[in-house]
Amino acid sequence: MMRIGVYQSDPVFGDVGANIEQAFKDLPAGEADLWVLPELFNTGYQFVSQDETLELAEEVPGGRTCRDMAELAANLGSILVFGMAERVENCCYNSAALVGPRGFIGVYRKAHLFFEEKEFFKPGDTGFQVFDVGWAKIGVMICFDWFFPETARVLSLLGADILCHPSNLVLPFCQKAMVTRSLENAVYSVTANRVGTEARGGKEPLAFTGGSQILGPSGRILSGLNDREKGWAVAQIHVEEARNKKITVYNDRFEDRRPELYGRLCK
Ligand code: ACM
Repeated sequence: MMRIGVYQSDPVFGDVGANIEQAFKDLPAGEADLWVLPELFNTGYQFVSQDETLELAEEVPGGRTCRDMAELAANLGSILVFGMAERVENCCYNSAALVGPRGFIGVYRKAHLFFEEKEFFKPGDTGFQVFDVGWAKIGVMICFDWFFPETARVLSLLGADILCHPSNLVLPFCQKAMVTRSLENAVYSVTANRVGTEARGGKEPLAFTGGSQILGPSGRILSGLNDREKGWAVAQIHVEEARNKKITVYNDRFEDRRPELYGRLCK
């Protein structure tokens, strides 16, 4: 039996130091083996220019955020998955990094960019990856990736037991959709959303919907937070439950697939 946790925050735009410090204050030791934090948890979301994005983005794993978060992972004895803007030369990616008590594990770059993210970030080039941390296989997807069910399916076919889903949600329905993503793939999922609003540079305000949640492989909500609160929630999990893909004695989620009929999906 392991414990996984979700962190719901309200970052201050542009104040990376304060946002990291808040995570150091808020996340408790001894409560979870894995914590998932929101998308862009260290910078905030609503960038107004490419220059601003480049200025706030950092190298992964060489930058300050990955260094500090590796220290936090060592303090907590936990794996941390967190969203951040990643800089690679003159480009930025909307990324999620994984660190553990022994340091950097890997990075995923968001495949499906939402709305004005297309102005500031390049589409991710890492593909969908599963990270084996010993006690579980962890798949990572970021926010709007939920709208493309192929994301969760590919990660699950790659063997993910837990889908870690850093988010800054503004559209409705994701939390409900993730129930289906968990159920149809028989995986745990952890959607870590943020709360609060941002309205920068005269843009339309964005209101983030909270409702962070941990779901079991049957789609059941195991733990979560409401649409306003800041803090964390944890759930106990049995990883092996995500390795049984049976639906009935006659049916199996993966063995019953008919990929020969799905060609259109790959066009
Ligand atoms: C989103 O992908 N941040 C909505």
